[in-house]
Amino acid sequence: MSDKIFVFDTTLRDGEQVPGCQLNMHEKIELALALERLGVDIIEAGFPISSPGDFQSVLAVSKAVKESVVCGLTRAVKKDIDCAAEALQPARRKRIHTGIGASDMHIEHKFRCSREEILERAADATKYARNYVDDVEFYCEDAGRADHAFLARMVETVIAAGATVVNIPDTTGYCLPEQYAAIISYLMNNVPNIDKAILSVHCHNDLGLATANSLAGLYAGARQLECTINGIGERAGNTSMEEVVMAIRSHRQSLNLHTDIQVNQIYGMSKMVTRLMKMPVQPNKAIVGRNAFAHSSGIHQDGFLKNRENYEIINPHDVGISQSLILLTARSGKHALKHRLQKLGYMPTQEELLEIYDRFLVMADEQKEIFDDDLRTLMGEGADSSNQERQLELEELTVVCGKGKPATASVSINHNGKSFKAETTGNGPVDATIKAIDEVMKYEVKLEEYLIQAITEGSDDLGKAHIQISMDGAYYYGFGSDTDTIHATAKAYLDALSKV
Ligand code: KIV
Ligand code: ZN
Repeated sequence: MSDKIFVFDTTLRDGEQVPGCQLNMHEKIELALALERLGVDIIEAGFPISSPGDFQSVLAVSKAVKESVVCGLTRAVKKDIDCAAEALQPARRKRIHTGIGASDMHIEHKFRCSREEILERAADATKYARNYVDDVEFYCEDAGRADHAFLARMVETVIAAGATVVNIPDTTGYCLPEQYAAIISYLMNNVPNIDKAILSVHCHNDLGLATANSLAGLYAGARQLECTINGIGERAGNTSMEEVVMAIRSHRQSLNLHTDIQVNQIYGMSKMVTRLMKMPVQPNKAIVGRNAFAHSSGIHQDGFLKNRENYEIINPHDVGISQSLILLTARSGKHALKHRLQKLGYMPTQEELLEIYDRFLVMADEQKEIFDDDLRTLMGEGADSSNQERQLELEELTVVCGKGKPATASVSINHNGKSFKAETTGNGPVDATIKAIDEVMKYEVKLEEYLIQAITEGSDDLGKAHIQISMDGAYYYGFGSDTDTIHATAKAYLDALSKV
C-alpha cells in the first residue's frame, strides 16, 4: 500500500493574495466546492483577520464545504486566532493554521526579538488555538533559510504544545531540492516527538523549483503538500497542484505515494481558476497549458502518430483534456499532413502527397498555422463555406458607452470580400461588441474565457485580448492586440471564430 499525501490547497489564501486575483464571497464558495469535488483534503479558505470581506468568505466556505477540512490562517496572535475560530465555527471539519518566523532573518529583522521569545510565542499560539480546535497546523515561516537545529527545536516545541501538522515553508523559494529534502530529513531524524504530527511542504517558486522542492520534501518524509491551482501565488507563485499530483501519479511505482485527487477534473479546475482569478496560464505550462498536449514539429508529429506515448507521458484524457493537438505549421512533416488530410476524407497517393506537401509549405510559410479549410483549398476545393470563414476582418468598430447607460457597438466585418454591418447594445462595451459580431456571424458559440493583458506597463501600450470559445464540444482560441482594448477584443473574437 502506498503512502497517502494529504493535499492542502491554498489557492483561496496564498493564491488570492496576488494583486488582481481577489475573489468575492460567491466566487470563493464556487471555488471551494470545486476543490472539494476535486478531492482536496484541506482547503485554506483565507486569512479571516485580514479584512471583513475575508472573514465573511471563510465563514461562508465553512458553511458550504462538507467533506474537506476548512482552514483559516492566523499570525501567532490571540486576536487573529479568535477571529479565525469564529469564522471557522460552522465548518464540519476545521483547522487553524498559525505560525511565526523561524529564520534568524525573520526573527531579527521582522519580529526583532530573540529565538527564545519566538519559541514561547509559538507554543502559546498553538496552545491557544487548541482551545478552539483539535486540528492545529503550525507554520515555521522562512524555514527554508532557518538554522536546522533551531528549526528542530521549534517543531518539537509546537508539537508538544499540540500542533498536529507542522508546515515547513520555503517562503522565499530559496532552497535547492537537495537542501529542502535535507531540512525535512533532519526534522524527521532529530525531532523526538515527530511521530505525533505530520510535516507539510509549502514551497514558493522564486527559482522555478517549487515542484521539485515539494517532491523532494515528500520523498524525504513530509506527508502533506501545500499548493495552488495553476501555481498562482505571491511573486513567482506557489507549488502547482497539478504538477506535483501528476508527477506522483506518473511515478507511483517508484515513489510509492498517492493522493486522492480526481485527476480528470484538473483541467476544468484550472480553467475555473483562470476565469475567476483573471490570471491566464502560460501556454507552455505543464499539464494545463494550451500547448501541453500540442505537437508541432515534424519529427514529434511523426513519432506521436506512430504511437502517442513516443511523445506523451500523460494521456490528456486523464486530466480532463479532450484530445492532443497536431498543429500544422511550416515545421510539420508529411506524416502529419497526410493524417489530417485523411481525417478530412482525402486519400492522396504518395506521389500526390509529395506535391501537396510542397504547396503546403509555401502556404505555411505565409500563414502561421494551417487549418482544415486551408487544406481544402490546397486540395483544389473551391471556396466553400468553411473557407469563407477563414477570411474575417474587422473593417470598422465604433463603441459608445458611459456609466449608467447601455453601450452601443457598430461593426463592419469583411467576410470573404463582402462587408456586413450590425449594431447592437450590451451591458458594457465588450458585451455590445461581441453581440454585434454575433449578429453578423450567427454562430452558436459559447464564450469560455476572456482575458485582457497589457503587454508592457504604459497606459499607451498595446493590450492583448485572449478569447476562448467552444462549439459542439470543441474549443477554439483567438488573440488580438491593439492600443484600444475593445478593438483587441473584437479581433481576438474574430480570430477564434475564424477557426471554428
Ligand atoms: O509562504 C509562507 O511562509 C506562507 C505561510 C504564511 C504559511 O504562506
Ligand atoms: Zn506561502
